[in-house]
Amino acid sequence: MARTKLIAANWKMYKTPQQAEEFMRAFLPMLEAQSKAEIVICPPFPALHAVAGAAGTRVGVGGQNLHWEKEGAFTGEVSAQMLVAAKCTHVIIGHSERRQYFGETDDTVNRRLKSAIAAKLKPIVCVGEVLQEREAGLTEDVLRRQCVGAFRGISAEEAMSIAIAYEPVWAIGTGKTATPQIAADAHRVIRAEASKAFGEFAAHSTRILYGGSVKPDNAKSLMSEEEIDGALVGGASLDPKSFAAIVSAA
Ligand code: PGA
Repeated sequence: MARTKLIAANWKMYKTPQQAEEFMRAFLPMLEAQSKAEIVICPPFPALHAVAGAAGTRVGVGGQNLHWEKEGAFTGEVSAQMLVAAKCTHVIIGHSERRQYFGETDDTVNRRLKSAIAAKLKPIVCVGEVLQEREAGLTEDVLRRQCVGAFRGISAEEAMSIAIAYEPVWAIGTGKTATPQIAADAHRVIRAEASKAFGEFAAHSTRILYGGSVKPDNAKSLMSEEEIDGALVGGASLDPKSFAAIVSAA
């Protein structure tokens, strides 16, 4: 059974609601009717309404983070229920920028993941090594640790909605892309961990995306790798034309 490709835009801290509307107006007509890839756009929270209002049924909408509690005194956080109410279908969890700058740990990734699953949001869980770890030969260890931590206490059935994004931190926003070979090797390590945690059937169905300087000109070669089930796109998702080109490469 072939896995449907998933192309997700991570807008990070870019675009106001008005800029998001302009993007959607330009982007939607560029989508080719025959393109089968699943598309998700993850704007900053204030632009969720604008994206969800324009998205229709062809495009999913995702948050970039969520808190594991339903509500409470957690200034600056939003819950899974709030994302659902804002018409989100997806949520990014454990992005390396959250890990690096905001103290995200394997344990908080796990808690967020459980709350996303409970709310029926489709999670995109990010894992990936930093340059020093790769140079020290620790890539596989890091990926295993992040996967084991993220997947703890989640059943095979619950795991069916999870997508994982392999994002080598040295490739994010740097213009350095992992070769399809490097990505495919990492994806095999991740799929093996998913198999240990959830069994072979769930692991086989799990989509593993690549992220890190995906651009229109490298999307095709990455996407033609059997192990690469889509992309999580930062910088190149901000421009409707370049994001549409990446979607059509899938
Ligand atoms: P980039 O970001 O495409 O700008 O490298 C990817 C990401 O951080 O998800």
